[in-house]
Amino acid sequence: MSFDVIVIGAGAAGMMCAAEAGARGRRVLLLDHATKLGERIRISGGGRCNFSNRDVTAANYLSRNPHFCRSALARFTPADFIERLERRSVPWHERKHGQLFCERSAQDVIDMLVEACDEAGVRRLHPCSVEAVKALSGKDGVRFEVDTDHGRWRCASLVVASGGLAVPKLGASPFGYRLAEQFGVPVVPPMAALVPLALPPEVLAALKPLSGVSVAAETVFDGDRKMPAGRFREDVLVTHRGLSGPAILQISSYWQMQGYAPEAPRRPIRVDLLPGMDAGEWLTGQRHNKVLLPNLLAERLPRRFAREWCALHDLDRPLNELSKRDLAAAAEALNGWELMPAGTLGYAKAEVTLGGVDTRALSSKTMECKDVPGLFFVGEVVDVTGWLGGYNFQWAWASGWVAGQFV
Ligand code: FDA
Repeated sequence: MSFDVIVIGAGAAGMMCAAEAGARGRRVLLLDHATKLGERIRISGGGRCNFSNRDVTAANYLSRNPHFCRSALARFTPADFIERLERRSVPWHERKHGQLFCERSAQDVIDMLVEACDEAGVRRLHPCSVEAVKALSGKDGVRFEVDTDHGRWRCASLVVASGGLAVPKLGASPFGYRLAEQFGVPVVPPMAALVPLALPPEVLAALKPLSGVSVAAETVFDGDRKMPAGRFREDVLVTHRGLSGPAILQISSYWQMQGYAPEAPRRPIRVDLLPGMDAGEWLTGQRHNKVLLPNLLAERLPRRFAREWCALHDLDRPLNELSKRDLAAAAEALNGWELMPAGTLGYAKAEVTLGGVDTRALSSKTMECKDVPGLFFVGEVVDVTGWLGGYNFQWAWASGWVAGQFV
């Protein structure tokens, strides 16, 4: 039983790759251990799938090699994906920050990909568990043997599209990393990303009454020569376990990158509670005012948040009773509230995985391993992690598409 191509993982990247390869006339087998295909697509974007973003550049991704994703992203763009949706009359719309969503439901994207695979003659097998992968001599172009609970197949090209570790209950598995290691392909250690942050007990206790309160803010992680810097103006949500909301999820990926430099002391994130405003100037202009600081802050922040935040900083006093030094400290904390997370809420709550198959081992044009001809890695299993906002799906489509042209 032989195929030209076997794709392991029928998520976003795997289905795109299989459909492209099939459309080129390749005989393709697409395997997944899940019963239903594209579960991660189905639950994404609140059920509407934020399938891409109007503006996608390499700057929207984190990787040990930030340039790696350029080639694939340039060759399969958001416009290419939109063109596919429109060809099948799938309605979509744009939201803030250029985020592109399905008008009706994420199921439209799954149906489109499954239909594209079926039209291209791709043989789908799910649920199907892979038990072992063996390298063959490559004689007659047959390079791999894949053992599954449904039988044994051989192929010339093997595409690993098994995704990352986020949300294990949706079928995430370390399969791709293990397979890479089996073939001597290096893996950048995976870590949870786009993930809520846990807070130290004393900060958590002070903020607990605010659980459910959301603040429009700007989160910042200061980079350095080794570490990329991030800055996101969005909502910060206080939860009973720490901080969440889009601005926190975005900055969490940058904060987590410090895990790659364990020798350096961990640095905090900063939250600017009054983005675009000089808190020092504002408070100095009010220094003779008898109003309580929390009441003044309530003009710009949710009242409950202002109250608890001032209590945490021992600043719940009238402005005219605050010393110059107190005012300066308040202003500094308002424009750059330093928070050292106690950690993250882990893969169960993460949207994606940082790290993965080391891009230095892959061709950026084809996604094929430089040292293992015929072995390809696409999608989230690769060390390319996008921002929140449709960037991760765009990477899945683009990397799957380029591999689909070469397998
Ligand atoms: P994906 O995880 O989609 O697919 C991998 C497939 O491999 C799965 O079907 C899995 O069952 C299968 N598999 C795994 N191990 C296997 C094994 N051993 N054998 C056989 N099959 C195996 N991104 C975005 O751009 N916009 C958004 O709106 C969202 N929203 C979102 C919400 C939530 C809750 C999560 C968890 C994630 C998102 N994402 C997102 C991220 C996005 O879902 C993710 O980056 C892509 O699905 C990655 O696509 P892949 O095809 O690489 O992996």
